[in-house]
Order: sequence, then structure tokens, then C-alpha cells
Amino acid sequence: MTRQMRWVSLLSLAAAVAVGAVGCLGQDQDDNSDTTTQVGALLGDTLPGTNGTTFAAAKANFVATESAADGLGPIFNQNACASCHQNGATGGAGQNIEQRYGTILNGTFNSLASTGGSLRQLFGIGGFNVGGLNCNSGVDNNPAAGATLFAGRLTTPLFGLGLVDSLPDSSFSTLASREPAAIRGTPRIVPIALPNPLDSSQVTGGTRVGRFGWKANVPSLAQFSADAYLNEMGITTTSCIHGTVNTAFATENRANRAPTNAIINGCPDDAVPGVDDDLGAETNSCAGGLTELEDDVANFTFFMAHLAPPPQVAITAGSSQDRGRTLFNSSTLMCSGCHRSDADIFVSTSAGGIQAGIAFQPFSDFLVHDMGTAADQIGLNDGDSVASTRLMRTAPLWGLRSRNLKFHDGRTSDIATAVRDHNGGSLGQGTAAAAAFGALSSSQQSDLVNYLNTL
Ligand code: HEC
Ligand code: HEC
Repeated sequence: MTRQMRWVSLLSLAAAVAVGAVGCLGQDQDDNSDTTTQVGALLGDTLPGTNGTTFAAAKANFVATESAADGLGPIFNQNACASCHQNGATGGAGQNIEQRYGTILNGTFNSLASTGGSLRQLFGIGGFNVGGLNCNSGVDNNPAAGATLFAGRLTTPLFGLGLVDSLPDSSFSTLASREPAAIRGTPRIVPIALPNPLDSSQVTGGTRVGRFGWKANVPSLAQFSADAYLNEMGITTTSCIHGTVNTAFATENRANRAPTNAIINGCPDDAVPGVDDDLGAETNSCAGGLTELEDDVANFTFFMAHLAPPPQVAITAGSSQDRGRTLFNSSTLMCSGCHRSDADIFVSTSAGGIQAGIAFQPFSDFLVHDMGTAADQIGLNDGDSVASTRLMRTAPLWGLRSRNLKFHDGRTSDIATAVRDHNGGSLGQGTAAAAAFGALSSSQQSDLVNYLNTL
């Protein structure tokens, strides 16, 4: 993206988003909550037992466009969750590809945080006047001085993720233990910055198996909500967890991560100081042991948690898709070794407010694998080993046909290309699968792709 494009006016951005949002709603008015089977349901449907009124309000919040007066910025990537998450239905994948960068310093990963890494924010709210001060939000440099690693990250779909969120950590270690050593994944254990109050096993500062994002580095939908609100939209929040104020997502990003306000002349973080949701009356006091996620964060979490899995297409015995399914599960290709749907594991529990007992087939283990040179080479924290920068989460394949682009950087719309690109060289755990796919006849390759288009 060019510098000029980054300065696109907020008005035109908002107008484009408004048009997009209307389109999404038009495709997605069905709120069918009576189905327990994935086949035949519509993309964007809710899980059984979902309160339709609460869901509609939560969805409206996910679609809502925010402005500087709502706390948007000072730097941000988009002004609504649904601006990015919209393929097929609200909550879907998207064409928006985020920019990450970093470098290797003294043999380990460095995110260049002082210049705004590793996640860039592409837009700023621009110039504003507060109390007689002329202020400017700035934008992150492009490219950052010193960056040697650059990666795009495609917007992922959110359907069915509440079911994944409800799984206990033990599910993931069981999956790992079932995988052949050559392709075995690892559960990524990450700190809990913001617990979901509806799951008593989560506590601030505890750990949980990370399962969300391309690198499985986020442990829950609640935490992802607050994280995305801050890092994609520049809206800070605080929540109350058992009477304690949680400020993990209460500090604004500033352009190039300037250490103090000094670089913007003592200006406040926002065009309208005091409007970010961390200053809401409700969360100013956590007295009385209050446990409550900030309103918008609670809404985003509820919306995502209650989206049903993408519907599958029924497969006729003896069809091309049926032959493709056999290939997918074969020991030659080993696709299902990582892209898993173990029936005893993928059943929801009641954690996080989800109805227990809902079976689902994500076609992922939510574990991270060494993908060699196919990985994005971006670490999570400064000091991470080079080996850890090669870890990627097995991409869930449910709903693949509703995604316009594939692979972590959205490099292709072609499913076969995404499979070939599992080739990560000698270190890559996906290299053998890519080679086995390449060795298939072209009609077998079509069978496999036809099967993937039913998931
Ligand atoms: C600028 C575009 C953009 C906006 C706005 C955005 N997202 Fe995302 N979202 C992404 C991208 C890109 C990813 C993949 C990120 C990664 O793994 O690095 C993602 C991933 C996610 C995931 C993880 C899904 C998975 O596959 O595990 C969740 C949950 C999520 N977003 C929720 C939200 C919520 C809630 C909002 C609004 C507060 C939001 N997003 C706003 C682009 C966006
Ligand atoms: C070692 C584990 C592993 C094996 C084996 C494996 N995959 Fe994957 N797959 C992954 C990972 C990890 C990703 C994410 C790669 C990325 O984007 O960086 C992925 C991504 C994909 C994608 C792109 C999905 C998206 O959302 O963009 C498709 C399609 C896919 N795999 C199909 C297959 C098929 C078909 C096979 C068998 C020929 C296979 N995979 C074997 C781990 C594996």
C-alpha cells in the first residue's frame, strides 16, 4: 500500500465500509437456530440454543463503524470488525491482508517495537485540535528502518470458533499424541491476558492453549476481541475480572510506538480525549468483586462464540468428492494427520457459555507445526528462536470454499496452489504432503480439490 493510500480520508473509508456492511447483512439475514447438523445450514447461522435477540445486538456491534469520536485511532487498520471479516457472511474471512515485520537480531527474532512492529497500523486519524493544541496521529513508517522480515496475514473466518474456544487444554495434547512423529504438532501454551469470565478455568496471568490466529497465539475469543479492538481499530478497553481492573488492552498504540506523547507535542492519544471505552462509567469501578467484560468486547465475544460451523456439502458415494475424501484421509497424503476432525475430541463443552455436546469437524488440530520456509518467519515476542518463527497453526479447512484467498499471506485463490505451497524445504513438516500431492495424477488432484470444496 502506498503512502498516499494510507492517507485516504476517513470519510471515504467510512462510506466504502457502509456499502460493504449493507451487502453483508443482505446475504445474512437468516437466524436459523434449530439445526444440530452442519449439512444444509447457512453460513452465518447461529449455534442451537442461541438467544436471537442477544445475537442480533452483538452482531450489530460487530458490524458497527467507529469514528474518532468513538475512540477510533490514533492509528488503526479498519473502522469495524465486519469491514475485514465478511467473506460469505458477516464474520467470514476477508481480503484484508495485514502487514507484519521484524528482523533477526543477535540470532533471535526482534519485532522492532520502537518503530511500530510487528503489526503495522496503516491509517491514522490525521490532524486534530485539542485544547488549542494542533495534534497529529501520524502513521507507522513503511517500511520500517531495519526490518528484514515482512509477512502478510490474511483475515481468517470466525464461524464455529466458539466450539473450539470451549475445548479444554487436554484436547490439544491428546491430538498431538495421536499424530505421527514426522508431522506432530505442538500445543502453543500462552499467557491469559484477559480471561473469559464465563469459563472458570481461565484466570488473568494463567495459561491456556493458544488456538486462535495463524500462529495460534491467542487463547480465547474474549481476549482476541479486546486485542483486535485495540490493535486493528485503536479502541482501548478495560474489564473487571473478580473485582480487579484488567488493563491489558487499555494502552493506545502510537505511530511507530513513540515512547511518550512528546513526539506529538503533549497531545492526547485521541481526537476526543476520554471517549475510549476504558473510560466508560461501568468499568471505572470494579467494586464488589464485579466480573464483566467491557460491553463491546462482551458483544464481539458473544457474536463469534455463537456462530455455527460452516455448512458442509453432502457427498454422494462414488463421486469425485468421495474419491477426494479417501485421498485426504490416506496414509500417502496424510492431510488428515494435521487437518483433523477426531469425533471424540471435537464436541463442545459448556465452558465460555457454549452449549455442551455439539459435534463439529474443523479439519484442524489447532496445533502449531514447523512449516520451514513456507512459514511467515515472524515471532511472537522479542528473543524468540528462529525455529519458533517457523511455527504455523494448521489452518482449519471448514468453509474453505467461502474464502476468496488462501494461505497465511493470501497469496492465492487456488486451492491446489495452497496445497503445493506446503513445501517448506527440508525442515518443513508439510513438505511430504506437498510432494505426495504433486505425485498424484491430475484427475486425482481434482478429486482432492473437489472434496476440499465440500468442507
Ligand atoms: C483490519 C482488518 C481486521 C479487523 C478490523 C478485524 N480483524 Fe479480526 N482478523 C484479521 C486478520 C488479518 C486476522 C488473522 C490475524 C493473525 O493471525 O495474525 C484476524 C483474526 C481474527 C480472529 C482469529 C480467528 C482464527 O482463525 O483463529 C478473531 C477471533 C478475530 N479476528 C476477531 C476480530 C474482532 C472481534 C474484530 C473487531 C474488534 C476484528 N477481528 C477486527 C483482520 C481484522
Ligand atoms: C504438517 C501438518 C500439515 C499437513 C500434513 C497438511 N497441512 Fe495443510 N496446512 C497446514 C498448515 C500449518 C497450514 C497453514 C499454512 C500457512 O498458511 O502458513 C495449512 C494450510 C492448508 C490450506 C490453506 C487453508 C487456508 O485457509 O488458507 C489448505 C487448502 C490445506 N492446508 C490443505 C492440505 C491438504 C490437501 C493436505 C494433504 C495433501 C495438507 N493440507 C496437509 C498443515 C498441514
